[in-house]
Amino acid sequence: MSDTVQQIKDRLSIIDVVSPYVKLERTGGGMRARCPFHAERTPSFFVSPERGTYHCFGCGVGGDMFSFVEAIEGIDFKGALVVLAEKAGVEIVRQHGTERDARHERDRLFELLEAATIFYASRFSTEAVEYLHERGVSDALITSFRLGYAESSWSALSEHLRGKGYSEVDIVAAGLAKKNERGGLIDKFRNRIMFPISDPAGRVVGFSGRIFGIEAHPDAPKYLNSPETPLFQKSKLLYGFDRAKQSMRKSNCAVLVEGQMDLIMSHGAGWNNTVAVSGTAFTQEHATLIRRMTENIVIALDADQAGIKAAGRAARAALACNLNVKVARLPSGLDPADLIVKQGADAWKNSIRNAEDIIAFLLAVLGEHVTHADRFRRAVYESVLPFVADVTEPLKREHYVRMIAGALGVSENAVVEALARVPVVARTEEKDPFIRPASLNRAKQAYAIYVWQKSVENATFDVDSYVHRLKIAVGAPVFDELELLDSAEKEQLRFSAERVHGASGGLVAETEVLLRVITRGRLSDELEAVMGMLKRSESSGNDAETSRLLGCAKALTDQIAALKD
Ligand code: UTP
Ligand code: MN
Repeated sequence: MSDTVQQIKDRLSIIDVVSPYVKLERTGGGMRARCPFHAERTPSFFVSPERGTYHCFGCGVGGDMFSFVEAIEGIDFKGALVVLAEKAGVEIVRQHGTERDARHERDRLFELLEAATIFYASRFSTEAVEYLHERGVSDALITSFRLGYAESSWSALSEHLRGKGYSEVDIVAAGLAKKNERGGLIDKFRNRIMFPISDPAGRVVGFSGRIFGIEAHPDAPKYLNSPETPLFQKSKLLYGFDRAKQSMRKSNCAVLVEGQMDLIMSHGAGWNNTVAVSGTAFTQEHATLIRRMTENIVIALDADQAGIKAAGRAARAALACNLNVKVARLPSGLDPADLIVKQGADAWKNSIRNAEDIIAFLLAVLGEHVTHADRFRRAVYESVLPFVADVTEPLKREHYVRMIAGALGVSENAVVEALARVPVVARTEEKDPFIRPASLNRAKQAYAIYVWQKSVENATFDVDSYVHRLKIAVGAPVFDELELLDSAEKEQLRFSAERVHGASGGLVAETEVLLRVITRGRLSDELEAVMGMLKRSESSGNDAETSRLLGCAKALTDQIAALKD
């Protein structure tokens, strides 16, 4: 363990770190709370001050203060180190002997993008600043969002960065320039007002540039975004997320807008819980980011045709991630930035305050346009039910079914039946239909033992033969999924295995039981799936298929019986 990490752990207790985020109550040997990482009513999130660890028995997360900060803030280890060092009053000492060139590419790119941000900010033209003022962006906002300007020169930024010792390869890899035919660098952004885009830890990872200046090419796109780089992945980034995190959590609500101007103006109007998509659609990955901070989202996209369509897609992604979705209605023809400039912050506040639940909103909009009862029902089935189909929480679904049945004047059963025929959106975290969360958790636990034993010098048992049996027990698809976990997750698994099984001395017996339980669970899941298929093949009168499935069911039942202890 590095000195810094140890010093931080010496100065802070896990309670200091966890308690600002959850309400801890005392219990037996430690403290417990409702888990901040999954929705639950009874507390199953335990914190042990002696061991400096936490563990949730509901969703299986666990680790030390570093992994806690990483998970709850959505940042990586380095980011957590910075946060905790500050909290502990410990200075981060760079390790000796690491040459600039030998450092990891990511670190070099972060530094380079930071240098570019400072450069752009130093190059503001009077015209560009005046333009921003006209649009309602104050000097305070310009400074706090670190806005800047890329002039019309072909290579001002590249030359500046080269002068600071950055390599051409890194400048290109950061997405800031391209090589031309003669091998020189051409800046990617020219004649643009520059908006730095940060990752959840607040480090600049890319830019969006709005065209500005008389020398700008008339056909150039209005906004230009950084290309995808190892650090800049649009589908995983939300503009403003780093600054909105705390506010989203505190207000238990996120506001979603589109683009840089809307975001900055919304923050300027006091809505620090606003985030924006930037040049891309709002996806389930974005929704998952938000879901870590709050379960409520207000979507406020333009009221034009394209905006309404985009809002619909965004709403479905949000619903699929179990967010409660509301939609803000903006006066037609105005986006949030225009609204704030023309009608003031109060008008924006009213739009957000009056935001309507997505389903109520859709029913109301349809009701305004389609008055004929039959046509209204068909329209609701066609364009509202798909939204309900994305909702997985049974209570929320029921609520919506009741709402729609009421609006249509039909029975709830009729709505449920219609709903059963609606295809759902593909979920990002689509799991193999055979795998249940509980099975996956057990598989993870067994895999954690493997990761842990592999890492110690004298393992308690033969690791190779264990992993072979493990693969058979969990099944190849699950095993592959476990192998794909990233190194941080594997490290957490190692940590939790060591904690759960380290002191017991009965590891061999424990793994035997675990492997048996896993195998039995997998076979039961398979049996259940086969029974489902059997029901369908019987009702469709497919005799050959039915007898094949009966054979499968019999074999599975026998295997399960043989595993009973
Ligand atoms: P808009 O065209 O609605 O931009 O695009 P805006 O925010 O109202 O811009 P102003 O008010 O004219 O300055 C919304 C968002 O879509 C992305 C940008 O992220 C933009 O903020 N976009 C738009 C692009 O990525 N490329 C484009 O060419 C246009
Ligand atoms: Mn606009």
